[in-house]
Amino acid sequence: MNKDLYKKLQELRRTLEHHNYRYYSLDDPEITDAEYDRLMRELIEIETKHPEWLTPDSPSQRVGAPPVDAFSSISHSLPMLSLDNSLNEAEIREFDRRTQRLLERTDEIEYVCEVKLDGLAVELVYESGLLTIGSTRGDGITGENITQNLKTIASIPLRLRGTESAVPERLEVRGEAIMPLHEFVRLNQTRLDSGDPPFANPRNAAAGSLRQLDSSITASRRLDFFPYGIGLCSAPLPPSHNRVLSWFEELGFKTNPLTSICRGIEAVIDYHRRIMEQRDSLKYEIDGIVVKVNHLAAQERMGVRSRSPRWAIAFKFPAREATTRIKDIIAQVGRTGTLTPVAILDPVQIGGVTVSRCTLHNQDEIERLDVRIGDRVVVQRAGDVIPKVVRVVKEQRSGREQTYRLPDRCPVCNSHTIQAPGEAAVRCVNLSCPAQIKERIAHFSSKNAMDIDGLGEKLIDQLVEKGLLKSIADLYFLQKDQLIVLERMADKSAENLLAAIRTSRRRPLERVLFALGIRFVGEHIARVLVQAFGNLPALMQATPEELEKIHEIGPQVAESVNSFFAQKENRHLIERLEAGGVEFTAATKPMGDKLAGKTIVVTGTLTGFSRKEIEERIQQLGGRAAASVSHNTDYVVVGENAGSKADKAKELGIPILTEQEFNQMIDN
Ligand code: IVH
Repeated sequence: MNKDLYKKLQELRRTLEHHNYRYYSLDDPEITDAEYDRLMRELIEIETKHPEWLTPDSPSQRVGAPPVDAFSSISHSLPMLSLDNSLNEAEIREFDRRTQRLLERTDEIEYVCEVKLDGLAVELVYESGLLTIGSTRGDGITGENITQNLKTIASIPLRLRGTESAVPERLEVRGEAIMPLHEFVRLNQTRLDSGDPPFANPRNAAAGSLRQLDSSITASRRLDFFPYGIGLCSAPLPPSHNRVLSWFEELGFKTNPLTSICRGIEAVIDYHRRIMEQRDSLKYEIDGIVVKVNHLAAQERMGVRSRSPRWAIAFKFPAREATTRIKDIIAQVGRTGTLTPVAILDPVQIGGVTVSRCTLHNQDEIERLDVRIGDRVVVQRAGDVIPKVVRVVKEQRSGREQTYRLPDRCPVCNSHTIQAPGEAAVRCVNLSCPAQIKERIAHFSSKNAMDIDGLGEKLIDQLVEKGLLKSIADLYFLQKDQLIVLERMADKSAENLLAAIRTSRRRPLERVLFALGIRFVGEHIARVLVQAFGNLPALMQATPEELEKIHEIGPQVAESVNSFFAQKENRHLIERLEAGGVEFTAATKPMGDKLAGKTIVVTGTLTGFSRKEIEERIQQLGGRAAASVSHNTDYVVVGENAGSKADKAKELGIPILTEQEFNQMIDN
C-alpha cells in the first residue's frame, strides 16, 4: 500500500471537511471556491484510483451516489411527533396556563422559541459519530431511507465533530431540511425554461428534491438543514433544550440564529411579533414559531399525547393567501424578448400588501393551472414576496370564462413571436423591439448593476421612444442638448444624469458583467466568473468546457455565456461600451492593501454605505468581508441597531469600529 498517498487522502478529507464546515455551518469561509474545487478534484482522483479506500464519510460522497430503484423503509426508534397548532394570542396563552398547571407552577415558565421552518422533517442517525442513516418523517413511525440524498446537504455533518469520547455511540438528530428562497427561485426559473412545471412552494421543492432516486439531482439543489430535536441518544442528555442546541453546534451542525429563550408568555408573544416582522427578509420560508418548554425534566413531566408533545406548540402566522378574480391577462415583453403572461387581478390584500397583478410565468403554466380570464383564483405570497396563482376555484366558474393564449405577434413591436423547440418560453426575436431595449436598459442601470442614479422608467421610455437609445451603449454617447428637450428634464437634472452615467463607467467588472443581462448570469455567477477569469478578454474567449470546469458553473450557464460572446452584435456592444469609456476592470484585484489579510464583519445599518458597498470596499482594499464573527475576525464594524454580532465581538475581545473609525482607517 502506498502509505504516502493514503496519508494525503486523509489529509485532503480533513481539509475539505474543515472548509465545508467553515463555509456551510459557520458561513465564514477561509478559502475560495476555486481552491475548494481543486482539493475536491484531487480527492476524487485518488479515490477513483483506490476505490478500496472509499469511506461513507468522505467529503466526495456529498456529490451524489448512483441512482437507486426505490427507497427502503426505516422504522424510527422513537415516534417522530408532530406539533399542536395555535393560531392566535388567546390560544398561546391557554397553552401557557396549561403548562403552568401541569408543572404545578405559578411563576413564569422558561420557553425556547424557534422559527417554524417550512421544509421537510428528517432524522439523522449517527453511530459512533458516523452518519449511517437519514430518513424522512413519513407517518411518524416509519419513514423512507434517503441517506444518500441527505448526505448531499453540506450543512449536515457526515461525521460528528469532537473527540471520540464526547460523541455518543448512537445519536438521532431531528430537524428540518429546507430549500432557501433564492435556490427555490433559481430552480423554478430553470424548470420553467425547460418546460417543467414549477414547484408551488419551497417546501414542495425541498420534498421533491429529497425524494429523488438519483442523489446527484439532490446535490444540484443546494438544500440546507437546521436541527431542532433529538430522537434516541445513548448518552445522558443536557438538562435543557437550549443546551441541546449548543451541543448540536459543538457536534458540527449549524443551528438557527433566530432561536431565543423567552421567560414567560409575554416574551413569547413579543418574539412571535418580532419574527413576523422579519419574515419577508429571511432567506427561507417560515410559517410560524415553535414554542418549547426549555427544561427537559419539565418536558418529561408534561409528557406527550398520541401525535404531539404537551410541552411544545406551534404559533402560526396568518396565511398569505387570498382569493380574487382575474380581470384580464396581458403579455409583457422582458429583456430577453420572452413574453410573460401577467394576470390583472381585482386588487386584494394578502399579508398586508395589496396585490393587483401577478405573473403566470408562461403558456405551459396557464395550461397546467387551467386558468381563464374571469376565473376566481387562490393567490399566494410566499417568502419570495412575488405573488402567484396557486389554484383556480373551478367550482365557482360561470361558464363565461375565456381561455388565453400568448399572441403570435409581439404586443409591442408587432414582430412574429417564436417558441424554440423544447422551450416553454414564447419570444419576440426582434432585438430592436423597444420593450426589450427598455428592459435591458432598466436592468443595466439598476442599483446592483451599473447603478445609474436618476435613470428611471419614465425617462427610459422617453429616451427609447425618441430613438436616442437603441442599445445600452448609447447611454455613454448621450449629449446634454439631447436631454434638455425631454419632458421634466431641466438643465441641472440633465447634468446630474450625465454625471451619473460618467461615474458608472468605473463600476467593477463583475457588476458590468451582471448588467449586460446575460441569461443565467446573476450577481453571484458574475462574481464567480470574474474571480475565475480576472478580465473580460479571457472570459470572452472561454469555451463551454473551460467554463464548466469552474465551481458553480453548470452546462446551462457555460452555454449561455459562450453563446452571448459568440454573437457578433454582443461583441460589437462590448466594443461600443469600451469606446464610451466603460472600464471593464475587476474589483477583485485589490485597489490598495490597507486591509490586506484582514477579515472584517459588518453589522447593523450604516449611514454612508449600503451593506454591499462596504463589502466591495473591504475587498477592494485587500480584505475579506465575512458574515459571522469568529476568532479569525480582525474587526467588527457596527452601525445602527447592531445585534448579536456586536455582542459576540465583545465576548471574543475583537476590536469594534464605528463607521467613522472605519472611514478613518481606510482614509489614512
Ligand atoms: S419540533 C416534538 N421545531 O413542524 C416536536 N418542528 O408540525 C417535533 N418544524 O414535523 C417538532 N420547524 O417538520 C419542531 N423548530 C421546529 C420546527 C419544526 C419546523 C416542523 C417539523 C414538524 C412540524 C410539526
